[in-house]
Amino acid sequence: MQRSKVTIMSIHDKKAKGEKVTMLTAYDFYTAAMIDQAEVDMILVGDSVGNVVLGYDSTVPVTMEEMIHHCKAVRRGTQYAFLIGDLPFMSYNISHEEAVRNAGRLIKEAGCDSVKLEGGSEMASVVKVIVDAGIPVCGHIGLTPQTATKLSGFRVQGKDAEGARQLIESAKALDEAGAFAVVLELVPDAIAAEITKNISIPTIGIGAGPDCDGQVLVTNDMLGLYEKFIPKFVKQYVNLAPMIKKAMSDYVQEVKSGDFPGPEHTFHVK
Ligand code: KIV
Repeated sequence: MQRSKVTIMSIHDKKAKGEKVTMLTAYDFYTAAMIDQAEVDMILVGDSVGNVVLGYDSTVPVTMEEMIHHCKAVRRGTQYAFLIGDLPFMSYNISHEEAVRNAGRLIKEAGCDSVKLEGGSEMASVVKVIVDAGIPVCGHIGLTPQTATKLSGFRVQGKDAEGARQLIESAKALDEAGAFAVVLELVPDAIAAEITKNISIPTIGIGAGPDCDGQVLVTNDMLGLYEKFIPKFVKQYVNLAPMIKKAMSDYVQEVKSGDFPGPEHTFHVK
C-alpha cells in the first residue's frame, strides 16, 4: 500500500480503531530518516536533546535556538511521520503571547507540524491560545522533566488517590483545551488506562504501561547509545555504544599498525 503522510486525523483514527500509535525521538537528519523509513507514526524532537545530545544535566537549559536548530535537521530527514517540536522550559511559561510566538517559531522557522509542552490543568489556557492560533499541541503530564525539581525528582506520579485524581483532571483539561494527544510519563498503569478510557485524544505512554493508545521512547535509550542512566521503562532493542566504541578502537589500532588504509582505500597512479 502506498504510504501517505501521518496526520492528526490518521492518529485519531488509530485510537478509534484500537490500533497502537508509535513515537520516537530524533535530533538529527539521519536518525529522523531511519525512523521515517521504519514507519514510526510520530517523531518528537524532544528537549531530551539537552541530556542525550548536548550533554546538559537536565532539559532545563535547552533554548529555543537549540530546539529550532535540531528541529530543522529532523524536518529535512522526515517525509511521512508527524513532526512534534518540544517547547523548552520558560518558552511558554511567562505569558500567552510568548507561548504563541515561540510555538509559531517551531512551525514557521523549524518546519514542525505541531508543538509539545509540559503541564496539566495549570497549562490548559496556554494550550488553548496556541491551538486557537492554529498550531496543534501535544500535552505532557505525569513526570514533567522541566519541573522535576518541584516534583522532588524523577518519581512515578499519581501514586496516591489525590495525585491520581489530579492526573485524570489534567488529562481532561488538556483534551478540552484542544490538545491533539497527551504524553503520560511515569504514571502507574491503572491510572494511564483510566485516563486513556476517559479522554477523546490518544495517550502516548513512556513508563505508563501497555494500555496507553501509543508508546514513545527516547531513541538514544532504545538503541543503547546513552549509557549514563537506563530507566526501568526503557527496553534496549540494541546496545550500540559498545559496538561503536569497538569500531573506533579497531580504527585506532589499524591506523597505528598501518593496516588502514589498505590498497582498496588508496588512490594509486602508475
Ligand atoms: O523530551 C523528550 O524526549 C520527551 C519524551 C520523553 C516524551 O518529552
